[in-house]
Amino acid sequence: MKIGVDYYPEQWDEKLWEEDADKMKEAGIGIVRMAEFAWSRLEPEEGEYDFSWLDRAVRLFEDRKIEVFLCTPTNCPPQWMFERYPEIIQVDKTGKRIPIGIRGHRCLNSPVYRSFCQKMIVEMVSRYKDYKAVIGYQIDNELEANHCCCPVCADKFRSYIQAKYKTIHAVNQAYGNTVWSGEYSDFSQITPPFGKFQTWLNPSYMLDFHRYASESTADYVNFQRQCIHSIDPDALITTNNWLCENMPDFYDLFEPLDFVSYDNYPAAVLPDNPETLYSHAFHLDLMRGIKKKNFWIMEQLSGGLGSWMPMSPMPKPGMIKGYSLQAIAHGADAVIHFRWRTAVSGAEMFWHGLLDHSNVPGRRYQEFCDLCREVEQLQELSGSVVQNSVAILYSSEQEYAFKIQPQVEGMDYFTQLRAYHDAFTALGIGVDIVDWHSTLAEYRVVVAPTLLVTDSQIISQLHNFVREGGRLILTNRSGVKDIYNKCIMDPLPTVFSDLTGVTVKEYNPIGTQKQKIVAGEQGGFFDRESESGETFFCTLWCDILDAADASVLARYGEDYYKGEAAITEHACGKGMVYYVGTVLNRSGMRSLAGHIARQAGLSVKEGLPFGVERTVRQKDGRKWIFYFNNTDAVKRFCVEEKGTLLFDEELPADGELLTFRPFEMKIIRS
Ligand code: GAL
Repeated sequence: MKIGVDYYPEQWDEKLWEEDADKMKEAGIGIVRMAEFAWSRLEPEEGEYDFSWLDRAVRLFEDRKIEVFLCTPTNCPPQWMFERYPEIIQVDKTGKRIPIGIRGHRCLNSPVYRSFCQKMIVEMVSRYKDYKAVIGYQIDNELEANHCCCPVCADKFRSYIQAKYKTIHAVNQAYGNTVWSGEYSDFSQITPPFGKFQTWLNPSYMLDFHRYASESTADYVNFQRQCIHSIDPDALITTNNWLCENMPDFYDLFEPLDFVSYDNYPAAVLPDNPETLYSHAFHLDLMRGIKKKNFWIMEQLSGGLGSWMPMSPMPKPGMIKGYSLQAIAHGADAVIHFRWRTAVSGAEMFWHGLLDHSNVPGRRYQEFCDLCREVEQLQELSGSVVQNSVAILYSSEQEYAFKIQPQVEGMDYFTQLRAYHDAFTALGIGVDIVDWHSTLAEYRVVVAPTLLVTDSQIISQLHNFVREGGRLILTNRSGVKDIYNKCIMDPLPTVFSDLTGVTVKEYNPIGTQKQKIVAGEQGGFFDRESESGETFFCTLWCDILDAADASVLARYGEDYYKGEAAITEHACGKGMVYYVGTVLNRSGMRSLAGHIARQAGLSVKEGLPFGVERTVRQKDGRKWIFYFNNTDAVKRFCVEEKGTLLFDEELPADGELLTFRPFEMKIIRS
């Protein structure tokens, strides 16, 4: 368990370094990340390297027994490189080179750029491989899928298609290119998707472009990993992940790396919309699921955001500490804060660090020191892991397909995943978010939202899971397309009809309209509505089902499809398949999740107040149960677990309430 900071010695007068390092030691910082943007200081002229300043910075930390995580500084090539080798600059969809002066605008495939990267990495790793303090490397910074359209990339894309389909006839078949005279007669006609009319381009071709762009970034990561390992075969390597417009496939990206790291900026302003309250938890669960193991936070919220947008409010008291502990609760083994001190120059001078411009330690810094002290006492958690019984499947194929062809206003892939994650999280049930092709045997409930695009592997995996007794939730917009992103000519949910026992007679994309939902013959999840007086409704999409082989849990309550089946369950093999043909509101979703969890024999924490999260880490038969109040209100409730509360607090007697301050984390060792 480590707490750290991102530090930019190159941005400060060297006279400050020693004082900074002393202060870090005093605060209890265990690790410092450096150098991801420092190329111009490390190679001020082509082939002239100057690591002397970085040596001095590393030594300062080494002397104080603070670990160092170095970054390959390849996100920002220096100006001389752009001037001398303009072909390394990315080309955008308009066919123009991106103006330089910002960052991250180099082409990941450019052979010239890669050759400079290799030389830089070899210099860096050769120099630091024997420093005790340097424990590993971050590759580049916040990589995106490589959507560059330069001539090198155009060739790569063409070769990708050629290798995949072999003949141009096969490409035309796979894409259905007879539409709009889109047939190619030669591979040379294939280009990256130029122009502003991206939604008019063939979705099958677009999906291949997204796949290629993702592979291209994964290839770049692997290239850098090889450069590092060629000098230091044992070096620990990661890259810092983020959620962006063009996301690479996380599972491919991290496949050759040692662990996942993530840049975590939970909102300092709490959402008005309660449906997004658990979204930080969602991101953390997504990151842990990439390698199904613990991960790091490389950048963690430290102050108010701002710079290229107007400034947003500062984190409230409790957030700095609470959000870091929340990351640990979800499986983070290190939380490194962005950044030590707020920059006084450059574009990010209002993206706040722990210390303000004044360098005078304030409220946020004191809270951070408190966090360091607390985490120091959590060392018994080292080696503990999170193990859950519920999984949600994530697939980049769906993420891309939804972006290429949005299905209805308001429904995107992530919102669908989040809704299910929210429902189980609100009931105190831990959720793993894992690759749609990963093994599922360890789970009792699997949610596979909106499998728009399908392949034979997922079909057989889901069949096996259910045959062996698993409970599977499938939803609307499943089985729509084949792996080429072309519609399947069968009644929906096509390849999943036998599993679900239903077919879709008709569908209605209702968008933001609401539709009433009423109990079907197979009651169960509507009990909560009658008990609490909450009303369930649905929105966005309505599949009107023929449920000949399934039991009906819910029906539509109005319009021309009043009385038609909306949600069903179907016993299959030793398991059960639920088909949710619509998108329920939050309380409806929670109730459905509770119904399914109970059927699966999972324990449902009904009394958990809204906004309180429960997660469990375990090791050698011991458990640590984390309760986090992710709200700015005091919460009181009765925890069922027996054990010891960490940090010298007393667990109240049976039936008594435990009080949580805003953003407070309590940990029970049981
Ligand atoms: C991250 C990025 C950092 C910094 C930070 C704050 O996304 O990796 O370099 O820019 O955001 O804006």
